[in-house]
Amino acid sequence: MLLDLSGRHALVCGASRGIGRASATELAGLGASVTLLARSADALKTTVEVLPRRDGQHHRWFAVDMLHTDQLRDALADIVADHPLEILVNNTGGPPGGPIHAAEAADFESAFRQHLLAGQTLVQALLPGMRASGYGRIVNVISTSVKEPIAGLGVSNTVRAAVAAWAKTLSGEVAADGITVNNVLPGYTRTARLDGLLAAQARSSGRSEEEVAQGMLASVPARRFGEAAEVAAVVAFLCTPAAAYVNGISIAVDGGRTRALA
Ligand SMILES: NC(=O)c1ccc[n+]([C@@H]2O[C@H](COP(=O)([O-])OP(=O)(O)OC[C@H]3O[C@@H](n4cnc5c(N)ncnc54)[C@H](OP(=O)(O)O)[C@@H]3O)[C@@H](O)[C@H]2O)c1
Repeated sequence: MLLDLSGRHALVCGASRGIGRASATELAGLGASVTLLARSADALKTTVEVLPRRDGQHHRWFAVDMLHTDQLRDALADIVADHPLEILVNNTGGPPGGPIHAAEAADFESAFRQHLLAGQTLVQALLPGMRASGYGRIVNVISTSVKEPIAGLGVSNTVRAAVAAWAKTLSGEVAADGITVNNVLPGYTRTARLDGLLAAQARSSGRSEEEVAQGMLASVPARRFGEAAEVAAVVAFLCTPAAAYVNGISIAVDGGRTRALA
């Protein structure tokens, strides 16, 4: 099985912690040179120093807020200036939770910008290089909510569905150029995002975080939370030569929680 990414360049967004950071680590372990992107310069600096590195691998970081797509576009011009990036992990922070009937227009607008418009900006910047290389891997980290909307995550459910439709459409347009577009759907994964959701649900329900966690785990056949590295392993596989004929799909990495057949 061809898993070697030596000589390939990857851009991993939301890479300062959690699933993004774990994905960057996996890709570097497979030999790719990795560019990290997130808002926190300090966390990015720390992360870039601990990435696996062999001869010929050059890792770097850019601090950018994906909410501001004009700034993202400017940063991407610098990012692609030296060499093409053949791999994109399109990942960012999740929108705040809350019932959809209480969401304001501004909540939808910012989530749409940070998730869908940022993705479009990233793809438009990287596609020419992918096409020139004849090799492209775009992996969007979304959520199992694209298969089964999750109660209490109204804005997120809505915007994630838009991202999934965007990705499917894109996958059909670029496949003939050797570029694949796939989605990884994390289930409950032990990261800062999950900690935040546990704390918010504990506050709003008057239960302890442990009780909220046990309630969540009751719906997971594996009866445990996932680890960021377990999601990252699937992200990284989709970026390899071995995954060349996997295109336009959404893979849940959720311990079996999603009950939908497709
Ligand atoms: N963990 C779960 O259980 C779970 C389940 C389903 C779906 N997901 C989704 O999977 C994705 C990754 O989850 P995670 O658990 O790894 O999240 P996380 O721990 O909150 O990490 C999010 C990453 O995105 C970066 N980020 C956030 N806002 C950003 C912005 N405006 N511009 C640039 N970077 C930004 C953060 O870094 P900075 O703060 O430095 O910018 C961080 O590196 C999220 O969309 C999340 O909703 C997670």
